[in-house]
Amino acid sequence: NPLQGAQFVLAAHRINQLPADSGAEVAFAGRSNAGKSSALNALTGHRGLARTSKTPGRTQQMVAFSLPPLPQEAGQPPLDVRLIDLPGYGYAKVPPELRDHWKQEIDLYLHQRRSLRGVVLIADIRHPLKEFDRMMLDFCFATHLPCQLLMTKADKLSRGQATQALLAMRKSFPEGLPATAQIFSSSAGTGVEEAREAVVRLLRT
Ligand code: GTP
Ligand code: MG
Repeated sequence: NPLQGAQFVLAAHRINQLPADSGAEVAFAGRSNAGKSSALNALTGHRGLARTSKTPGRTQQMVAFSLPPLPQEAGQPPLDVRLIDLPGYGYAKVPPELRDHWKQEIDLYLHQRRSLRGVVLIADIRHPLKEFDRMMLDFCFATHLPCQLLMTKADKLSRGQATQALLAMRKSFPEGLPATAQIFSSSAGTGVEEAREAVVRLLRT
């Protein structure tokens, strides 16, 4: 597993509390309860790394995890790499001030973070994309930021239904959208290898 050895670094309430903006990082984004933290755990192969919960709104901070440095071509120093778990978006019970705070911080993070190489967008395969997901894809389109869309909780559908949902998603992508959609399940392990390779590719971009 190329994402093995991830370690918790810190949880930040503001982007200026994040680790130094050097090296490369990939952010995990998605609506509250979509399964971001579960996906992080599945990809790193570390069950208890990111806290998961049945209650939406579990992750109320930006949580940074470091990975072992990635070897580079000869003569190049190894690349410092991180994964960032972003707070879930769209949970109705979050107080409006906090929701506005995170909207602003996520926006700042996406616009200002120079080490950001790509986004892993996590969405429930059973539901159409929601406003937050669309905003994220629009942002990626506008800024050429690559995105790997994990259509997660695929274990809740039959294989045929999951494949249909994937094909419909791909068809809905406008030409030139720098995004790849795939089927995923943290609990069944579906698509985990594919997603790991995608994350490493993003980090090396
Ligand atoms: P917030 O931190 O609240 O934004 O949520 P999150 O996006 O980090 O979701 P989390 O990983 O905590 O998972 C939310 C719920 O979905 C938990 O009850 C998980 O067990 C469940 N879940 C996550 N991934 C899967 C999956 O692939 N399949 C199934 N069946 N359940 C999943
Ligand atoms: Mg979470």
